[in-house]
Amino acid sequence: MLYGQGTYDRLCSNCHGDNAVSVKSIPDLRYSATLRRASDWTAIVIGGARAPKGMPSFKEMLAEDEAENIRHYIVSEANKARAAKAWRSVADGHAARSGSAST
Ligand code: HEC
Repeated sequence: MLYGQGTYDRLCSNCHGDNAVSVKSIPDLRYSATLRRASDWTAIVIGGARAPKGMPSFKEMLAEDEAENIRHYIVSEANKARAAKAWRSVADGHAARSGSAST
């Protein structure tokens, strides 16, 4: 288990979803551009830059390195999702070439 995962499950998953998969209209963090910019991530998660839009500041609960651990966990979830997608398209292409019906 990655370091940030437990913290994510405890503090973020209620709104952003289990395994970082968002089910509501709240951003799926795996596809967020913020994920690639550590300083923006800190500004939102610690600094409360999006507090007026319903994303609370976790300043009282998290140190910056803990927020950074959560970011790393979500990056790894994003990479898993990308790998699964790439694998599916390889499998689909194979089914198309061999003439079998793709399910
Ligand atoms: C009370 C619900 C709630 C909780 C708990 C919550 N968030 Fe959010 N979060 C939101 C909402 C709503 C937004 C969308 C804000 C907006 O529209 O800009 C958001 C947006 C974000 C964004 C910006 C994403 C983007 O694509 O712009 C980041 C990063 C983020 N949250 C990280 C976290 C992390 C990390 C945690 C746990 C420490 C967390 N959030 C916990 C509600 C929540």
